[in-house]
Amino acid sequence: MKIIQNIKEMQQEIRYSKSLGKSIGFVPTMGALHEGHLSLVKEAQRENDIIVMSVFVNPLQFGPNEDFECYPRNVEKDAALAEDAGVHYLFYPDASEMYPKPLSVKMLVKERVNVLCGAKREGHFDGVVTVLTKLFHIIQPEKVYFGLKDAQQIAVIEGLVEDYFFPIEVVRVPTVREIDGLAKSSRNVYLSETERAEAPALYESLKRAKEKIENGRDDPEEVKNSIKDFLSLHITGAIDYIEIYSYPKLERVEKLQGEIIIALAVQFKEARLIDNIIINV
Ligand code: PAJ
Repeated sequence: MKIIQNIKEMQQEIRYSKSLGKSIGFVPTMGALHEGHLSLVKEAQRENDIIVMSVFVNPLQFGPNEDFECYPRNVEKDAALAEDAGVHYLFYPDASEMYPKPLSVKMLVKERVNVLCGAKREGHFDGVVTVLTKLFHIIQPEKVYFGLKDAQQIAVIEGLVEDYFFPIEVVRVPTVREIDGLAKSSRNVYLSETERAEAPALYESLKRAKEKIENGRDDPEEVKNSIKDFLSLHITGAIDYIEIYSYPKLERVEKLQGEIIIALAVQFKEARLIDNIIINV
């Protein structure tokens, strides 16, 4: 595996791979790699000749009160995990490489963004589409891999790719979980021992809701209330939101039908956890 920090050098490698007729699969990350990220690599390996992973903690997508400074960073460990998983190129630029000067053109996400995390994290998805536009231009992959753990992120990126005619297929990869159901996340390390013990209740509440829907419940409010009651009993963290929308458009639904997402966010003391389940009713 080659570790590359420089954009020009990365572009040279891409040109070389393309001249050999190799297909490129791309896995963008912010590092602190865990099995969730590695499952994206596994999926990419099945479908591409060359796997490029980026590790870049993107300052643009963090709000002023978020964890940019203390976001877990450990590039040696990440490089070892990426190499083991079969990554060919680890693109690891620093912020001055990606943002050498103030942007003269800014990107603004208009749809699928005023709900869920987008509503709480102003400008977050603008930062995500900005960095991904840069990365897509540098890496020029045929396919790019994202986890459904961040389902709103996938919905927004599908909008970006469609609107701006990126010749890239967005591949949705299922959420990887701990044995007890907690979705793997780089932020789980912020949980206290008690909170870690409570955290599987998030997924448990979603599974129970899914069962209710499969048994014929079709009123979103009733289902949301049942999740709220369950969580109130099982966690000390504060419920940030519990929402049900159509997927991937993220529009309000009166009745539970078609492809829907049930998504929730819980604020624990040091960690904000999100989880979701997508159901085809
Ligand atoms: P990051 O949080 O590092 O996540 C990188 C990718 O890993 C995302 O597609 C995310 O959905 C996926 N992922 C995280 N946990 C997962 C899990 N438990 N199961 C499956 N996939 C999981 O998302 C970002 O970085 C950034 O916003 C980025 C897209 C890199 C742009 O900066």
